[in-house]
Amino acid sequence: MTFERNILCIGAGYVGGPTMAVIADRCLRYRVTVVDIDAERIARWNSADLPIYEPGLDDVVRSARGRNLFFSTDIPNGIREADIIFVSVNTPTKQFGVGAGMAADLQYWEKTAREIRHYAESPKIIVEKSTLPVKTAKAMERILNTTRHPVRFDVLSNPEFLAEGTAVKDLVDPDRVLIGSAETPEGIRARDELVRLYTHWVPRERILTSNVWSSELSKLVANAFLAQRISSINAISALCERTEADVAEVAEAVGMDRRIGPKFLNASVGFGGSCFKKDILNLVYLCRSYGLEEVADYWLGVLRINDYQKERFVLNMLKAMFNTLAGKQVTLFGFAFKADTGDTRESPAIFVARKLLEERVRLVISDPKAIRQARLDMQGIEGDIRYEEDPYAAAAGSDAIALLTEWGLYADLDYEKILLSMGKPAFIFDGRNILDHCRLFEMGFNVYAIGKPPLTHFT
Ligand code: UDX
Repeated sequence: MTFERNILCIGAGYVGGPTMAVIADRCLRYRVTVVDIDAERIARWNSADLPIYEPGLDDVVRSARGRNLFFSTDIPNGIREADIIFVSVNTPTKQFGVGAGMAADLQYWEKTAREIRHYAESPKIIVEKSTLPVKTAKAMERILNTTRHPVRFDVLSNPEFLAEGTAVKDLVDPDRVLIGSAETPEGIRARDELVRLYTHWVPRERILTSNVWSSELSKLVANAFLAQRISSINAISALCERTEADVAEVAEAVGMDRRIGPKFLNASVGFGGSCFKKDILNLVYLCRSYGLEEVADYWLGVLRINDYQKERFVLNMLKAMFNTLAGKQVTLFGFAFKADTGDTRESPAIFVARKLLEERVRLVISDPKAIRQARLDMQGIEGDIRYEEDPYAAAAGSDAIALLTEWGLYADLDYEKILLSMGKPAFIFDGRNILDHCRLFEMGFNVYAIGKPPLTHFT
């Protein structure tokens, strides 16, 4: 079969893998190759045991692999053959030098740009998929289009908005696809080429085009707005706990205003995940580097409230349990940063676990998917920690349960049975507001939820 276009993706990670699988699935006349320097990761993409779990991903990969989807470590050849190159390498927060702890670390990304320049023999469209600081495309274009190099490169920005656990759905049915390009005839030609790719399955009106800077910035801003909604409702949860208000009722009333909308208003122990904190820090750094201190402080406030919320959760536990946790057994229900994933990056559970260990609790960590990762996260941290996947075994003998991840299974447990196995008085702290608090209270638990008056049996 002859293919219309050769697509290459550099970086077989969380974004690159699923995105390319869906492109291959929808564009049968495009040949899609995903490359990575990590041979083990590529081997897993070529096996039955994919390196990431996403609902629906196995099916998409299985049907396209070997037909028009390929995984390889041959980066030079991939570059030579490609018409369009997606760059999806990781851009973690910089840990050293200027901007440490805030700015994006662009070393992998720049290395990739140089590699493309080195091996390319024909014109290419380069598509930024990694989340990058505004104006990165310009830098990339400068590296690629040096005067000594005769090959032409057009750089586009096409940020990814997929969330973990719904990656395939988000790709197949996106709210929007954003493509930023230079507003030159060449830039527009390149942009139209990418628009054509997406129109294989995305309605044209959901494909937005803009200049490169708007596109790069929109990605950071989308995540900052989502995180801001959570911090806003979490800030209000603190006020609810001091008054007779219930944060869920407030969120419902506020969210029914169509201008505000109901989503992302679940008060919680705090948000986690690989994107929100990193992208906001990035935004803050960007504002500061342009001298916009007030704007930077405003967005930093979103992270401050998130830290405050995690801190408050542990302080509430301490206060409720008579100001001493030393020697008490506390079981964490959930360690992942959200349900349906084994990912624990920036999970509030890590913070809560550390703080509880500082208070010298005997900690039991339970999670249906993240125990292996939890062990790694807790490596080197001193204290009495036990890992137990089965929630009943994990809760037995505990003085308190702290629910930190909204796994559906935790809402359906037999809490009568759990209560019988616990020390008394028994406490439950629902960091996700997913449990039936009144029922738990009637059973005999002392119940503390986020943004709701506590239900206790103490007079
Ligand atoms: C996020 C964005 O949603 C996605 O568009 C972007 O591309 C990457 O970052 P993800 O990190 O996978 O995706 O998780 P998301 O589902 O957005 O949840 C982030 C965190 O917020 C989780 O810890 C979640 O539990 C928490 N959350 C979410 C709340 O505490 N309350 C809510 O109402 C919603």
